[in-house]
Amino acid sequence: MVMARARILFVSVLVAISGTAAHAQRVAEAVGDRIVRFHKDAAAANAALPSFALVRPLAPLGPAPASAVAPDFIVEDGKHVAIVAVPDGTSLYGTGCVTGPLLRNGRTVTLWNTDAYGYADPAASLYQSHPWVLAVRPDGTAFGVLADTTWRTEIDLSSSIRFAAEGPAFPVVVIERPSALAVVHALADLTGKIEMPPKWALGYHQCRYSYYPDSKVREIAKGFRDRQIPCDVIWMDIDYMRGYRCFTFDPQHFPDPKALNADLHAQGFHTVWMIDPGIKAEPGYSIFDSGTAIDAWVKKADGTTYQGEVWPGMCVFPDYTRQDVRTWWAGLYKDFMATGIDGVWNDMNEPAVFNVKSKTMPEDNLHRADASLGGPGPHARFHNVYGMLMVKATREGVMAANPDKRPFVLSRANYLGGQRYAAMWTGDNSADWEHLEASVSMSVNMGLSAQPFAGPDIGGFAGNGPAGQEGLLFGRWMGIGAMLPFARGHTGKGNIDKEPWSFGPEVEKVCRQALDRRYQLMPYLYTLFHEAHTRGSPVVRPAFFADSRDPALRSEDDTFLLGGDVCVVPQMVPDRTRTPVRPLNWRGFKLEDVMQRELPDLLIRPGAIVPVGPVMQHVDQKPLDPLTLLVCFDADGRATGTLYEDAGDGWAFRDGDFRLARFEATLADTKATVRLASFEGKRTIPDRKVIVRFIMPGYETYAYGTESEAIETTLPVPRVRP
Ligand code: NOJ
Repeated sequence: MVMARARILFVSVLVAISGTAAHAQRVAEAVGDRIVRFHKDAAAANAALPSFALVRPLAPLGPAPASAVAPDFIVEDGKHVAIVAVPDGTSLYGTGCVTGPLLRNGRTVTLWNTDAYGYADPAASLYQSHPWVLAVRPDGTAFGVLADTTWRTEIDLSSSIRFAAEGPAFPVVVIERPSALAVVHALADLTGKIEMPPKWALGYHQCRYSYYPDSKVREIAKGFRDRQIPCDVIWMDIDYMRGYRCFTFDPQHFPDPKALNADLHAQGFHTVWMIDPGIKAEPGYSIFDSGTAIDAWVKKADGTTYQGEVWPGMCVFPDYTRQDVRTWWAGLYKDFMATGIDGVWNDMNEPAVFNVKSKTMPEDNLHRADASLGGPGPHARFHNVYGMLMVKATREGVMAANPDKRPFVLSRANYLGGQRYAAMWTGDNSADWEHLEASVSMSVNMGLSAQPFAGPDIGGFAGNGPAGQEGLLFGRWMGIGAMLPFARGHTGKGNIDKEPWSFGPEVEKVCRQALDRRYQLMPYLYTLFHEAHTRGSPVVRPAFFADSRDPALRSEDDTFLLGGDVCVVPQMVPDRTRTPVRPLNWRGFKLEDVMQRELPDLLIRPGAIVPVGPVMQHVDQKPLDPLTLLVCFDADGRATGTLYEDAGDGWAFRDGDFRLARFEATLADTKATVRLASFEGKRTIPDRKVIVRFIMPGYETYAYGTESEAIETTLPVPRVRP
């Protein structure tokens, strides 16, 4: 978040668009190339709170262009409202983690981070808040609207883009670009891009609430390796703790976490362990005592310490709006991580509170926030950023504990811009077909809201699944979830086993092939995460990115794109009777050994080269040798693609220890040529085999070589223009 705001405002620019009183006072400032910030009036501009969404304050550059999409500011029912008119035929997306379809026209949500166990559509509020709407006009040009407020905000998209927020007047930032992707890139420039994740975090993750004791964890790990089902990460949910006290280990069930982590590491696994914000209010418990020593806790309106019930019983809650509290919190991770823990899962950080109607702490609770965050204020102002500030502190602690490694933090609650600190999952979904379908739209809309590292609980958290279809649903979900950025199987306490082998040999085979696919696509996936890190590109994208002028694709939300070059066409209903819309001309391809009807179809974009690698049990099990390039020529007989490689962890890539290779292919009559066109980074050309798979209309053919010289072949049949 922005710790200090620019005090000099371009307040001299008063725009009277239609001459009404509402407009006459509006302040409009260009703050970037075709990026305009609006305030209700000069007083609102001067009183604006620091932004949590933006990476840095936006400096006014001059008057806004006359053509800028502009909000009307009004006050209604005591709330400040900003309304942006939407041209006919405009498709609306974004708004973060929301239920329902990808296309948001006609939908209303309330941004108020909520513990929403077993949520159903429509759900007013889920776990995260993204005051952001992406609007795509019929011609494919796009704009984005960001309401820069942390207060409870209703986004109503029934006839316009309408933000109605509690609290003071808020600024609105409008981004104008020629395409939706360019708007998302600009949003990432403003709100931040993800750090390059450790490669293991892109593998498959296995979780449940909870694997315990430690012998059960070992059994699960062995289950993957014995059955040759790829998996990189095993997760420890709250039962590893002593009575749910954070930063403790149950002496009976987890007597030696260091040995457990070491054993798992030896088998190529990494581990992620949970930490919640609620700290048991118990004198003598070291975390409670050290927090109390700095009076770290959120207060009630009367100034006494607030207590609320969560897993361990009555708890106190760190006030992460204070730097000293964040520093204390970060410091707690030193000993914790020293047991060999690789990543941290922050849960319940809306914050969730049991046995109260609001499911959270009172809105008039007091945060003693630093002046840089706007100074002390009620929980109502900080509620939506409580989780974000927690994971900011967690991430700093994890990095301080392991400075040579890339941090991995997963958060349930977060706020626009929170991708800077943590990945996300879509919370406590249910094991049913509706949630399978929703899991794709939710992940894609997160990517359009600047959070590319997102995914659902594969298999569904609440419940076992529809009677008689438990295995069918689980296998189908694995096939689809394996194509989403964050791929973790998880299920709730008391549910049936939900490991890939729990439903018999057929489902086990589906899961193995689904994950074999993910690992074969890992070179491409890792390249996409690099693009997310450097440019803010979503890892999964809506189908309409294939052709933003095709109206049939605007509402398509079964089909989705993995990056710019691969399209995933899933079957979302049990009997596979629904036919998703596919982008025209994209060509089907299979990865070795994949013949499962249960897995989504994969298509490649004409003009693309997609790098793939061998099946592995975990991401660093084998070198990328051979490298396979899937080549799909466009109508002009050309194709290009990139491959990013580095050590997979650590920071040496920042000093040039990486390789970003660009390949290009040409087809002249029957002669096909593939060559390394250019590369960046200090790494030299790897000494490895390259297999080229030409994916042609109706047939495939192969060529072999290395990256050091052009690979040429003669295709068996002359080119047919698609
Ligand atoms: C709620 C989380 O959403 C879920 O994933 C987790 O298993 C439980 N808390 C228990 O920690």
